[in-house]
Amino acid sequence: MYKPYSDNFDNLDTESGVYRKILIIEDDLSMLRCVQTMLRELPLTEVLTTSSPEDALNILSSEPISVVVSDICMPGYSGIDLLERIYKFNPNIQVILMTGMMEASVMRRAIQLNAFDFLRKPFEAAELMLTVKQALNKNQLLVQNTLYQNKLEMLVEKRTVELLQAKSQLETHYLNAINSMINAIEVSDVYTVGHSERVTTISLLLGRLLKLDAEELRYLRIGAMLHDLGKIGRINALVTKNHRLSRDEYDQIKQHPVHGAKIISPLGLPKAVNDIILQHHERQDGTGYPYGIKGDKISSYAKIVSVADSYDAMTSRRAYRTNLEPRAAAEELLENSGTQFDPIVVRTFYREFDLILKTISSKTSLNEELFSSI
Ligand SMILES: [Fe+2]
Repeated sequence: MYKPYSDNFDNLDTESGVYRKILIIEDDLSMLRCVQTMLRELPLTEVLTTSSPEDALNILSSEPISVVVSDICMPGYSGIDLLERIYKFNPNIQVILMTGMMEASVMRRAIQLNAFDFLRKPFEAAELMLTVKQALNKNQLLVQNTLYQNKLEMLVEKRTVELLQAKSQLETHYLNAINSMINAIEVSDVYTVGHSERVTTISLLLGRLLKLDAEELRYLRIGAMLHDLGKIGRINALVTKNHRLSRDEYDQIKQHPVHGAKIISPLGLPKAVNDIILQHHERQDGTGYPYGIKGDKISSYAKIVSVADSYDAMTSRRAYRTNLEPRAAAEELLENSGTQFDPIVVRTFYREFDLILKTISSKTSLNEELFSSI
C-alpha cells in the first residue's frame, strides 16, 4: 500500500491544515513563470517548477508533492503519459492539466486516468487558484485517509500480536494444568512416572522427522502429553494391579481413550488432539481399540503417538513384567510394522533410532528444548 512521505504534514498547517508542495511542469518558460508567480500567492505552499517531464519524475520521487499542474503537449512525455506514471506512483497526487486545445479523446483519457481538472489556456489567476485549492483539499483528504488506514493497519497488527501472546499464555496455563493432571495419574504408580513426557519427546522427534509443521507439532505435543488421561482414577488402579486382569477389567481399561476424550471435551481442543487420545491404541490392521478402525481411518498423529507409547511401554519396567532392551523394543516395532503400527512411522523410528535413543537418554530436559522451538 502507498505510504505518504511524511506523517508530519499536520505540523505545517495553514487554513486547510496541510503543508503542500506544488509542482508545475511546463516547457513554455514564460507560461511556467506566469503560473509560478500566480501560485506563490498561496500561503505556506512551496512551488517547484520544471520544464522537463523526465526531471518532473525525479522530483516526484524525492519530494512530497500534493498537486501537479502540467502542460499536456510537451516533448518526450506528454502530460497524459505523466498522469499515468504519477497515478501509479502515488494516487493521492492531484494533477491539473493545462492545454491550448481541448481534444475530446485526450480529455476522455485524462478523465479515465483520474486527472483532477483541466485549465484551458489562457486562464485567469482566480481560475487557477480556485482549481489548485480544490485539488489541494482533495489531496489533503486522501493523505489523511491514507494515514488513517496505515494507523488502522498498525493497530490491527498490534492487536493481533497481543492476541497471539494472550493465546500463547493461555496455552501455557492449560498445558501446566494438563501436566498437573498427568502427574496425578503417574504419581500413583512408580513404574509409569515420566511415561507421558517420554512419549511426548519421542512423538515430537518423530513429528519433526516426518516434517510436521509448527502447528501440527503443537497438536502432537498436547495429544501425546494427554494420551493416557483417561486412565485417571479407577482405570489407573486396574492398570497398576499386580495380578492377572479379569476380562471385565481388561474391557474397562480398553475404554480409557474414550474417557480421556470425554475429560478434555470441555476444553475445546483441536480435533487432532482429540484423535490422538481416542485412537492411540488403534492398530493398522483394525484389531486395536476402542473402535477397531484401521489404516487411513486412524489419525496420523495417533499413529505417531502409538509407536512412541508402545516403545516406552516395552522399555519401561512394570510390576508384572520386565522391560525390553531398547534395541529389542525397536526390533519389536519393526516386527509389527504394517499390522499394529504404521510402516512409515516405524521406518522413521528405526532409521533414526540412534538419535531417538540419544535424545531420550539425555539428562537435559529435551521436552523443554523441543517445546521452546515449537
Ligand atoms: Fe493408552
